[in-house]
Amino acid sequence: MGGAAVILPGTLKGQTTSFSKPLAIPTVLTPTAVDATTDYYNISMEAATKEIVPGLNTTIWGYNGSFPGPTIRAKHNRRVVVRQTNNLSVNTSVHLHGGHTPATSDGHPTDLISPGSFKEYTYPNNQLPTTLWYHDHAMDFTGRNVYNGLAGLYIITDDFEDALPLPKGRYEIPLVIQDRTFNADGSLFYSNTGMTRINGFQGGQVLTNGVIQPYLYVERRKYRFRILNGSNARKYELALSNNQQIIQIGSDGGLLSAPVSLSSIQLSPAERVDVVIDFAETGRGTNIVLRNLLGTGSTSEVIEFRVMPWRYGKDNSKIPSILRQVDRIPPTSASVTRDFTLNVTGGMGGPVFSFNNLPFDPARIDANPQINATEIWVFRNLTQMDHPIHIHDIFWQILDINGNPPSASDMGWKDTFLVPPLATVRVIGKFTDNTGDYVFHCHILEHEDFAIMGQFRVS
Ligand code: C2O
Ligand code: CU
Repeated sequence: MGGAAVILPGTLKGQTTSFSKPLAIPTVLTPTAVDATTDYYNISMEAATKEIVPGLNTTIWGYNGSFPGPTIRAKHNRRVVVRQTNNLSVNTSVHLHGGHTPATSDGHPTDLISPGSFKEYTYPNNQLPTTLWYHDHAMDFTGRNVYNGLAGLYIITDDFEDALPLPKGRYEIPLVIQDRTFNADGSLFYSNTGMTRINGFQGGQVLTNGVIQPYLYVERRKYRFRILNGSNARKYELALSNNQQIIQIGSDGGLLSAPVSLSSIQLSPAERVDVVIDFAETGRGTNIVLRNLLGTGSTSEVIEFRVMPWRYGKDNSKIPSILRQVDRIPPTSASVTRDFTLNVTGGMGGPVFSFNNLPFDPARIDANPQINATEIWVFRNLTQMDHPIHIHDIFWQILDINGNPPSASDMGWKDTFLVPPLATVRVIGKFTDNTGDYVFHCHILEHEDFAIMGQFRVS
């Protein structure tokens, strides 16, 4: 999917893309079968053609040919089995990001589905409800495969959360934010060589749910937005153009103990944030933009909310002052502390990022946690770059960043956390239920592919 002419940020020739198309909402997938314990789904990975740039065709790789893929909605403690069939011409592996998943269903980078074959993934959903996402994880090619479109949402809920008076139904909207660059013919441009191998690939256009800078008509009431940064490498700082506060209610691993009112929210690749925006505070008939304070030109504006002068009925939703208690894990309960440095070294094809100067080797195990052990993992960034670190299997709490406690926003459960340049971040977590081999890695996908990934074996 290469190509010659690269369209730079803000120069989509002759086309107006800013807020010219409505937000699309990924369809919720219907199970193909249901029994007493399990919902069964079938997904086919395939190439499809979409009109993303007005008037042009873009070939994407999508779950069921969608970009992003269809959303799976799961219930806490109710099993989901997904049969993934690979109808693409390359090997794939499907990882449920944030899933507390048996190792055999975790989408290990070497557990590949070859073209024409399928694999069944089993998700027990015995974990806190939250916004997860499933995406490709094929060794060395995750960046390309996700960029081409292999990503979709997976939302777990439970009765407790359903009973909270938060906005629901059509007032609960997922926003998958991704950046892409298009060639002049509409095809996707991707590169992971040269500087993009170092910085990660950042696209020139910001898409939400597969639409470049969409708009959304909203009523004058509260909405809940489940936001995923599904970009390969771009970090966002989201804020509303009228300086209105955004109320954060959850992070990667589900609801926070209490809501946090913020004027902006930083989101590294793979992080999720669950927020409420109250458009009753916005003037009638006003357009406000969700901006990206870290962007320039076309990457500085994400989505436009057009506040309608009315609403349908009364807004009975509320943001409870207590959401779901997050008990902090005491550092004294940890039996093991592991240290990982984040390094960069020169390699034959360009620089290589690694943990402890050891580029990923699927034959090597870098940590051996015992089941039910609580451990502290320390990440010391010796590079001048951000690295958002993701650890499979369990959720973690951030103990400190350079010795300082995290902000209220990061006091919840995390599976992906930013390790800023030259910083040290300590996290604590408990290895429960699952044994087997899992990976941890930087979620700048070009870094993951070259080769800042390690492996742990829970036994
Ligand atoms: Cu979201 Cu190992 O990945
Ligand atoms: Cu990195």
